[in-house]
Amino acid sequence: MKTRITELFGIEHPIIQGGMHYVGFAELAAAVSNAGGLGIITGLTQKTPELLAKEIAKCREMTDKPFGVNLTFLPTFATPPYPEYIQAIIEGGVKAVETAGRNPEKYLPQMKAAGIKVIHKCTSVRHSLKAEAIGCDAVSVDGFECGGHPGEDDIPNFILLPRAAEELKIPFVASGGMADGRSLVAALALGADGMNMGTRFIATKEAPVHDNVKQAIVAASELDTRLIMRSLRNTERVLVNEPVERVMQIERDKGAALKIEDIYDEVAGVYPKVMIDGAMQAGAWSCGMVAGLIHDVPSCKELIDRIMAEAHQLIAERLARFDRG
Ligand SMILES: Cc1cc2nc3c(=O)[nH]c(=O)nc-3n(C[C@H](O)[C@H](O)[C@H](O)COP(=O)(O)O)c2cc1C
Repeated sequence: MKTRITELFGIEHPIIQGGMHYVGFAELAAAVSNAGGLGIITGLTQKTPELLAKEIAKCREMTDKPFGVNLTFLPTFATPPYPEYIQAIIEGGVKAVETAGRNPEKYLPQMKAAGIKVIHKCTSVRHSLKAEAIGCDAVSVDGFECGGHPGEDDIPNFILLPRAAEELKIPFVASGGMADGRSLVAALALGADGMNMGTRFIATKEAPVHDNVKQAIVAASELDTRLIMRSLRNTERVLVNEPVERVMQIERDKGAALKIEDIYDEVAGVYPKVMIDGAMQAGAWSCGMVAGLIHDVPSCKELIDRIMAEAHQLIAERLARFDRG
């Protein structure tokens, strides 16, 4: 399937694997890229630019297809050395970067000079337009359904995607709640040129995370995520567990006076414990409502082949049938 996104990144299928903390290692990125999508290494999971350079080199040994790196500009206690991370990306010959969080404008000249295509993840039309104005090549439009940080506007993709299509000139992918061929065809119908998936790719054979995480996603329904940290304006959609219930109780008790320190034990340093050790009660971790649509743990190739076959069948048979009246 050819779209503006497959053309932009030189990939076979319009499917991107979003950056995910402690999930987006070389193994997953290479598997997605080998299956014809765009795999993404999560830059900041690598503690230093040198470690990121090694992860890129490892990925390069596992695939000769294009892959990207995610750079997340979130409010953190200590600002990571972004220019050095970008240098590692450039020297690793990576030509696609997914930025997320704060405005990436400051770092665009360094990336553009190296011929890198930048796709910025946004949760609103106004941020998407800003990304277009500052020179991003594409946008990943992340709806309210998404795992991770959906922003503070709470606009679901049935509204957000066509609104983005009304305003944007650069191509965009639909992100948040995407799982299968139905998602892809719907995304295309709403004006996107492809889709980005997070949670779905965690429940794959190659995702280098503990099996407990994959099984938790398969077992979860669409009712099992919660939003936390709203009053800090850092809303995160997470899978419900005991620490998340505790966070919600603390949030109710403290109200507007909540500080990050109040929930530090439940939200800081959680990812290695959950993703590597499989300690499912270690704290809050991002997960999308799309868990309700995830019922198995296929390989990335099985997943992507299935999505594309279903999408083609939907377009050629189901939709064509309605078109004939
Ligand atoms: C466990 C997990 C960790 C994530 N970590 C990051 C991250 O570090 N940076 C980022 O930009 N997005 C991150 N995301 C968001 C994903 O890249 C993607 O935008 C989101 O998962 C899409 O929604 P979906 O889960 O419904 O597919 C994360 C998502 C999950 C589920």
